[in-house]
Amino acid sequence: MASLKEIKLPVSQELDFFNDYFKQSFRSDVYLLNLITNYVLRSKGKQMRPLLVLLSAKLTGEITPSTYDAATLIELMHTATLIHDDVVDDAASRRGLLTLHKIWKNKITVLIGDYLLSRGLLLAVKNKEYDLLEIVSEAVKEMSEGELLQIEKSKRLDISEEIYFKIIRKKTATLLASCAAAGAKSAGADTKTVEKLKLFGENLGIAFQIKDDILDYNGNKTGKKVGNDIKEKKITLPLLFSLKQAENNEKKKIIKLLRQKNKTDKTIREIFDFVNRYDGIVYATQKMNEFTDIAIAQIDDFKDSSIYKDLLDFVEFVVKRSK
Ligand code: IPE
Ligand code: IPE
Ligand code: MG
Ligand code: MG
Repeated sequence: MASLKEIKLPVSQELDFFNDYFKQSFRSDVYLLNLITNYVLRSKGKQMRPLLVLLSAKLTGEITPSTYDAATLIELMHTATLIHDDVVDDAASRRGLLTLHKIWKNKITVLIGDYLLSRGLLLAVKNKEYDLLEIVSEAVKEMSEGELLQIEKSKRLDISEEIYFKIIRKKTATLLASCAAAGAKSAGADTKTVEKLKLFGENLGIAFQIKDDILDYNGNKTGKKVGNDIKEKKITLPLLFSLKQAENNEKKKIIKLLRQKNKTDKTIREIFDFVNRYDGIVYATQKMNEFTDIAIAQIDDFKDSSIYKDLLDFVEFVVKRSK
C-alpha cells in the first residue's frame, strides 16, 4: 500500500499552495482566536478531503483557482465539524493532541467551530463560488442531520444496519462526495461527470467511515482514543453485526455493559472480545470493500487519465490505513 506521503506526491506542489491558502483563510485580529487556531494548525490531520478535491479536478480536467477555494472551504467545514463533534462525543484527543474543549472548555470551543464555518462561507461568497456553495451547503446540512440521527439512535441502542448506513452516509460520505464533485466542477467538468464523481466520493466516503469505525476497535495510531465509540454507546457496524449473531442472553449482557455510565478498560475489552468472537471486524471489512468496488466503478471512464492510478492508490489508502 502507498503511504500517506506517497499518495500526496502527484499533487504535492498544489497541496503546498493549498496549505498557505488554508492558513490565511482563518487569520483574525482577535488574540484568543489566533491562539486557538494556531493550536489547531499544529496538527493538520491527513488532509484527505483537499487531496480528494485536487485529484478529482486533475482526473477530469485542470486544477484552477476554484479548486483551491473548494479544497479550503471543505477543509474548513471539516475542521469545524470535528471540533464540534469532539464536544458532542466528549472525546479527549484528536490528531494526537488534547481536544480543544479539554483545554478551553465547551463555550469557547463551540464558537471556534462556528467561526471556521463562517470564514469558509465568506471565502466562497467573496470569490463568487456559488456552484461550490450549493454543493457544500447540502453536505453540511446532511452532516448535522447525521450527527443528530446518531444521537437519537444511540439512546435506544436499537440500531439496524439500514439506519447505520443512513447515519454514515449523512455524517461522512456526503462531504467526501462534495470533495469529488466540487473538484470536478472546478475543473470545468460537465454535469454528468460531476454526478459520477459525486457517486465515487459518496461510496468511498461510506467505506471511509466503516474503516474509521473499525479503527475504533483496532487502531492505535489514529491520534484518537480506541474504544471511544463504545464508551459513548455508539453501535457501529462490527458490534451491530455481532449483536445480530448472538443468542438473546449474551446480547442482553453486552447491551447491559454498553449502558454502563463509566466503563472500565475491562468492560471495553469484554465488548472487543465479543466482537472478535463473532467476526464483527471481518464482516465490516467485507462491507467496506463492497462500497470501494462501487466507488471505483464510477471512474471507469477515466482509466486513460494520467492520474487514474493515483486515485486508485488514494482509495486503497482509505481502506488499508492505520491512522
Ligand atoms: C475524521 O476524519 C472524521 C470522520 C469522518 C471519520 P479524518 O480521519 O479524515 O480526520 P483528519 O482530518 O485526518 O484528522
Ligand atoms: C465523524 O464522526 C465526524 C463527523 C462526520 C462530524 P465520528 O465521531 O465517528 O468521528 P471520529 O471518530 O470522532 O473522528
Ligand atoms: Mg461523533
Ligand atoms: Mg467523534
